[in-house]
Amino acid sequence: MTKLKNDLFLRACKGKSVEYTPTWIMRQAGRYLPEYRAIRKKADFITMCKTPELAAEVTIQPVDLIGVDAAIIFSDILVIPEAMGMRLEMIESKGPKLYNPIRSMDDVNKLKEIDPTKDLKYVLDAVSLTKRELNGRVPLIGFAGSPWTLMTYMVEGGGSKSFSEIKKFIYNKPKAAHMLLDKIADSVADYLSAKIEAGANAVQIFDTWGGLLSPADFEEFSLAYIQKVISQIKRKDEPVIVFAKGVHYKLNKLANCGADVIGLDWTMELGKVRSKIGNKVALQGNLDPTVLYGDNDKIKKEAIKVLKSFGKHNGHIFNLGHGILPDVPPENAKYLVDVVKEESKKFHVK
Ligand code: CP3
Repeated sequence: MTKLKNDLFLRACKGKSVEYTPTWIMRQAGRYLPEYRAIRKKADFITMCKTPELAAEVTIQPVDLIGVDAAIIFSDILVIPEAMGMRLEMIESKGPKLYNPIRSMDDVNKLKEIDPTKDLKYVLDAVSLTKRELNGRVPLIGFAGSPWTLMTYMVEGGGSKSFSEIKKFIYNKPKAAHMLLDKIADSVADYLSAKIEAGANAVQIFDTWGGLLSPADFEEFSLAYIQKVISQIKRKDEPVIVFAKGVHYKLNKLANCGADVIGLDWTMELGKVRSKIGNKVALQGNLDPTVLYGDNDKIKKEAIKVLKSFGKHNGHIFNLGHGILPDVPPENAKYLVDVVKEESKKFHVK
C-alpha cells in the first residue's frame, strides 16, 4: 500500500491534530472546470462513469487544478438503482431520469439484489485505477446515496419539485417503503464495503433529501437505514461521513448513528452545532456554495467566518454546504482552498 503524503483529511475525520484545516468540495469533479467539460464533450455522463480511465482522470483534475486535500471518485449515486434493474438516463440540462418508477410492492420485489463486484465492477475499477494514479498524494473518498435519498429518486423517477409521489408512497404503502429501504440499505452497505476493499480511504453517504421529512419521519425512513448501512460496512479504520441536508432537528441522533463525521449545510453554525453535540464526531462544511460567486475579499471573509465558528479545535473538514455550482469561476474555488490553507493555520497552533 502506498503511504499517503497528505493525510490531513483522514486525521481531521478522526479528530486528530492537523497543521491546517483540510478542504475538499462536494461535486469538485464537475462542470465548473473547463478541463472536465473538454472530456464531457467527447463522452456522455454515464459513459464517463463507466469508463475507469475517464473517471480517474476527472477525479484527479481538482487535486491538480484546485489543490484540494482529498479526491472523491467521479460517479453518481444513481448507479445503484441502475444496477438494481432500473433504466437510467441523464437528460441534458434537465437531470437524471429513472424509467418505470417504483410504486408498489410488486415493483419492489422485481428489483435485483446487487453484487457490487459484478454489477458495479466499473466503479471498483475506477477506484483502484484512481488510487494508483493518485500515488498517495491525497486520500480518495468513495460515496453512495442514503437509502432514503435513493428511494426518493426511484419512486419519483427523477428530480421533483413537490415530492408528492414519494410522500404518497411512504404514507399509503409503508410496508413496501420499508421493504425497499431495507433492500437498498443492503446494496449500499455491500457497495461501500467493496469500494473500501478497492482502495477508498473514507466513504460519504449523501442524504440530500433527508430534510424533506418531519423529525419523526426522518428517524423512521432515513436515519434508521443510514444506521443499518453504517453497521454493515466492512471497514478497518476508514471514516464514514454522513451529509444530511436540511436536518436541523436530529443532530444529536445523527451524531450517534455510527458516523465519524457529520456534513452540514450552510444554514447551521458549526460552533453552535459543536457545542450542542460535543466532540463525538468531526464536522464537515459548510460555506454557502454561492459565496464562490463573490470576489476574493468576500470569499476570504466568509471562509474565516466558518473557521472562527468552529474555533480552535480538531475535527473540522472544510467544505461547501452543498455541491459547487457549474457556473462558479474555477479560480474562485482555487482561491478558497488557498485561503483556508493559510488562514486555518492560526486555528491549529500547538
Ligand atoms: O463530488 C464529486 O465531484 C463526485 C461526483 C458526484 C456526482 N454526483 C457527479 C455528477 C457525486 C458525489 C454525485 C452525487 C449525487 N448525484 C447526488 C448527491 C449529492 C448532492 O448534490 O446532493 C445526487 C442527488 C445526484 C443525482 C444527480 N446526478 C443529479 C440530480 C444530477 C444532475 C444535476 C445537475 O447539476 O445537472 C446528476 C448529474 C451529475 N452527477 C453531474 C456530475 C458531475 C453533471 C453531469 C454532467 O456532466 O452533465
